[in-house]
Amino acid sequence: MQTQAIRFSAFGTPEVLSLHPVDLPPPGAAEIQLRHTAVGLNFIDIYHRKGVFAAPLSLPGGLGVEGAGRVTAVGEGVTGFAPGDRVAYVGGPPGAYAQARNLPAARAIKVPDRIDDTTAAAMIFKGLTAEYLIHRCVAVQPGDRVLVHAAAGGVGSIACQWLKAIGAVVIGTVGSKAKVHAALRNGCAHVIVTETEDVAARVRQITEGKGVRVAYDSVGADTFAASLDSLAPRGTLVSFGESSGPVPPLAVSSLGAKGSLFVTRPSIAHYTADRAEYQAAAQRLFAAMADGTLAPPQVTTYPLADAARAQDDMEHRRTQGSVVLLP
Ligand SMILES: NC(=O)c1ccc[n+]([C@@H]2O[C@H](COP(=O)([O-])OP(=O)(O)OC[C@H]3O[C@@H](n4cnc5c(N)ncnc54)[C@H](OP(=O)(O)O)[C@@H]3O)[C@@H](O)[C@H]2O)c1
Repeated sequence: MQTQAIRFSAFGTPEVLSLHPVDLPPPGAAEIQLRHTAVGLNFIDIYHRKGVFAAPLSLPGGLGVEGAGRVTAVGEGVTGFAPGDRVAYVGGPPGAYAQARNLPAARAIKVPDRIDDTTAAAMIFKGLTAEYLIHRCVAVQPGDRVLVHAAAGGVGSIACQWLKAIGAVVIGTVGSKAKVHAALRNGCAHVIVTETEDVAARVRQITEGKGVRVAYDSVGADTFAASLDSLAPRGTLVSFGESSGPVPPLAVSSLGAKGSLFVTRPSIAHYTADRAEYQAAAQRLFAAMADGTLAPPQVTTYPLADAARAQDDMEHRRTQGSVVLLP
């Protein structure tokens, strides 16, 4: 069959993205075929478009690591899924920016009836990222002081709400004053505006000199040093993204001098590779959405054909909450 998908044949600015008719073969062994109803946009899609990963995508190619929709066909050997099932997913080969696609069945998660498709696409990647970061990468405890950068962004919005529900004291950063309100609404007890304030100095002031137990840093180049300098002795820096550019090299010996610190560079791929762990994480996310720990996400939608505009808005820090493409 034919479908429409965003394709690109050169790395670069958002203009390299455009909608094309593409042939979609029947699902192969262990695959399902999916008609998307909503596709989540993630900052990782921008890294893929620019070709900045150590192992860039092969071109011409597609983009997108998260979506929701209905199963339309199942390949040989697939059990547990049937046409008509509502599913959402994280991962698989990039290619979610499409009306329909084939996906390894092992990546699909059935979505409870109470969660609509747009919400599922807005939450599954960013929510599962928040889940592993705050429960499994580091197990945040009630009373912990935690620094979260980009506290009004996609992952940040969810992580801050969840951390507050655990009983952590959340210090959020945002790029500009316009995002302060959103960060407060997400549960931050304190908000630092990076455009005008010194992050490490403000964290020391807020914590009466003690520093934070964990710093979640997805901004990278611009914030890494300040994150390290914000930690309490034996604290952990979780460097999980590079929205502002790559993190500079780190002298391991400096971690001793700064207080026996830990640094980790985690990826959702490694925290959801095991099917049982992936499913358990999704159930924990769905439960947090059901019991009010997480409010319905703030979602901005764009037509799939406007993927380039949506990416441009995200890359230039004009978005808050989750962004969803509608096929
Ligand atoms: N390792 C993992 O498993 C994993 C999984 C998912 C996402 N991530 C990472 O988590 C981060 C957040 O992803 P997301 O999709 O939710 O995006 P997002 O947070 O909605 O958007 C990125 C935000 O980063 C902030 N930022 C600071 N400096 C920036 C700069 N120079 N250019 C662009 N943005 C800048 C902006 O917020 P302010 O304007 O408020 O500063 C911007 O809104 C990304 O770095 C992504 O790669 C990692």
